[in-house]
Amino acid sequence: MRVSSVFAVLEAASAVVAGPVARSTYSVKGSHPVPRGWRQLDRAPADHTLELRLGLTQGDFAGLAKHLFEASDPQHRKYGQHLSAEAVHDFVRPAKEASDAVHEWLFANGILPKDIAYTPAKDWLKVILPVGKVEELLDTTYHVYVSDDGRSAVRTPEWSLPLHLHHYVSTIQPTNSFFGPRAQARMDKRKAEALMDTKNIAEYIPPRPNATTIDAVCNTTWVTPLCLRTLYGVADYTPQSTDKNTVAMNNFLGEVSIRSDTALYLQNFRPEALGAENEYPVISINGGTTNTVLNQTELKALTGIEGNLDDQTLIGVAWPTPLEIYSTGGEPPFTPDMTTPKNTNEPYLVWLDYLLSLPDPLPSVISTSYDDDEQTVPKDYAVQVCNALAQLGARGVSVLFASGDTGVGGAGECYTNDGRNASTFLPNFPSSCPYVTSVGGTYKFNPEVPVFRNRSTGLYTAGGGVSYYFSTPAYQVESLMTYFEKTGVVEKYAGLFDPNGRAYPDLSGQSLNFTIFYNGTLRPVSGTSASTPAVSGILALVNDALIAAGKPTLGFLNPWLYSGGYKAFNDVTTGSNYGCNTEGFPAVEGYDIATGWGTPNFKQILALRGVEVDGVNEVWEHWE
Ligand SMILES: *[C@@H]1O[C@H](CO)[C@@H](O)[C@H](O)[C@H]1NC(C)=O
Ligand SMILES: *[C@@H]1O[C@H](CO)[C@@H](O)[C@H](O)[C@H]1NC(C)=O
Ligand SMILES: *[C@@H]1O[C@H](CO)[C@@H](O)[C@H](O)[C@H]1NC(C)=O
Ligand SMILES: *[C@@H]1O[C@H](CO)[C@@H](O)[C@H](O)[C@H]1NC(C)=O
Ligand SMILES: *[C@@H]1O[C@H](CO)[C@@H](O)[C@H](O)[C@H]1NC(C)=O
Ligand SMILES: *[C@@H]1O[C@H](CO)[C@@H](O)[C@H](O)[C@H]1NC(C)=O
Ligand SMILES: *[C@@H]1O[C@H](CO)[C@@H](O)[C@H](O)[C@H]1NC(C)=O
Repeated sequence: MRVSSVFAVLEAASAVVAGPVARSTYSVKGSHPVPRGWRQLDRAPADHTLELRLGLTQGDFAGLAKHLFEASDPQHRKYGQHLSAEAVHDFVRPAKEASDAVHEWLFANGILPKDIAYTPAKDWLKVILPVGKVEELLDTTYHVYVSDDGRSAVRTPEWSLPLHLHHYVSTIQPTNSFFGPRAQARMDKRKAEALMDTKNIAEYIPPRPNATTIDAVCNTTWVTPLCLRTLYGVADYTPQSTDKNTVAMNNFLGEVSIRSDTALYLQNFRPEALGAENEYPVISINGGTTNTVLNQTELKALTGIEGNLDDQTLIGVAWPTPLEIYSTGGEPPFTPDMTTPKNTNEPYLVWLDYLLSLPDPLPSVISTSYDDDEQTVPKDYAVQVCNALAQLGARGVSVLFASGDTGVGGAGECYTNDGRNASTFLPNFPSSCPYVTSVGGTYKFNPEVPVFRNRSTGLYTAGGGVSYYFSTPAYQVESLMTYFEKTGVVEKYAGLFDPNGRAYPDLSGQSLNFTIFYNGTLRPVSGTSASTPAVSGILALVNDALIAAGKPTLGFLNPWLYSGGYKAFNDVTTGSNYGCNTEGFPAVEGYDIATGWGTPNFKQILALRGVEVDGVNEVWEHWE
């Protein structure tokens, strides 16, 4: 930080000496500290290429958010009225004066109309420029940064704009965002015993195709699709709307889903679905990999654990609902090559641009097992990404994100990065965005409890916490107040979190020791990376039944969930999400910041929506 502020002063001084009038109207628009774990190296080469994305202030985001809440509120007459792509674009299209002013500035700086690319709503502009030119445009200085875990990025902590553009532009990246999605799958990376005996699977995981009780099919040492399907009530459901319903998942960071491993998984745990491993499309966005074979380097790095966990779990639960995989490239980490210019951009934005440009219909559920510390994300950028996620919700997509794998924060990392280095819990983004549904983790059965593992390989508890960026959304206020009153956590953890923020997770699912195949062998994999596709699969089946009954799909879940939908979830009432060397937030009866409202019950969700499927009568019996 000290080094870069010296540079800022030098820049300003030279600007004054050179005396260009236009630059004198510049002032700082975005400033965000370099996150913990990143170090500044040399100045970025002037000819290194950046794919600059400019987010313009959206014309009527408030109108979009209003519609989203109305369409997601079962009490509202607009309930279930998901918007078309065009209607969403109309809400977010920037005002003409914003668009004109930004273009005038770009043209004055020698950028040609043909070099500018747009999202359909023209709320994002993209232009590929060398670092030297971007430094001029934003009156800043880019450096190469490297992280302790070997990632690199070309970034600047602070950037400026002419004053008259400040309220027309909401964010420009890549500048000060070091946000790189972090996969949440946990596997014992060091211990050979994490490998399970692949030859005699049937001996220790007996196939029990006719078993119907949780006791008969669920075992905490290994969680199979039959266990998940029995536990959450879909084992006896036959999907009916596979021509109208799709579930999707994301691969970032070069992650891949290996079809041959999925085949082994299905052969062992869902034989009737065998063949599905060859049916899903992998949609490459921005050069994302479509590899299905890994080389030794990738295998050593365990590339594909996350991708395999996600597709195997989704197919294992939701088959024959069609699956789509988005594989987005352009990630940090990248290796900045001092001689070869290279694009370094933000994978979430690239992915969202792609998705929001697609015509209707979008998949009804999208599962994302990636997250990062909210404090690594500049607030202006977080808001813009969160608003884009709201657009998916408005179009009827249930957007699910993993809540993270370190409880309220990883031990030894729980400090603010605002210069004070004060103790704090570490919330995760995008889970902290009020327009997504955040999925926490449980383990054990009858009852499920917040996941907890304390081994030599590290503590694993599911993420949960409260945002510093986003305030408590209206749908959550009452539940959160009740939780605070019950538990006294506001007093107990005074100063460690903001009680006026958006709390997460919203719900949860099993998340320990899923039986995943990787490189031809069976391994237990854990994480909210497991619960997120599991719950996504269940909700995709709910949509299947809703479509068959002629009803609108679930869409953005939270307003429904907090206003009564929670009755269809299995409440988790003991345990807590340890982290930051504290017990974290306890699970209690009703909503809590450890497991949200709990885990889904397929038939109860449908019963709440007035849809009968086989076995629904049993459900009503539990109800009074
Ligand atoms: C779970 O599986 C393990 C290993 O196969 C076995 O030893 C154990 O008895 C099982 N537990 C239950 C409750 O079935
Ligand atoms: C499962 O049920 C089917 C039909 O009732 C029966 O034919 C089959 O033998 C049963 N399988 C096992 C392993 O019990
Ligand atoms: C999860 O799997 C690991 C590795 O096989 C095992 O050591 C551990 O006991 C399992 N956890 C539970 C709760 O059974
Ligand atoms: C392995 O694959 C990765 C990604 O495709 C590639 O970058 C790398 O060069 C390959 N390594 C070897 C040793 O082939
Ligand atoms: C992957 O499987 C191959 C073939 O069984 C084996 O030789 C290799 O060691 C495995 N690699 C890893 C990282 O598991
Ligand atoms: C913040 O404080 C902790 C605990 O005293 C210390 O270990 C850490 O190095 C400090 N970090 C910075 C950036 O000063
Ligand atoms: C986890 O294990 C470590 C080392 O054995 C111990 O110091 C720590 O208190 C344990 N944490 C919890 C939450 O039990």
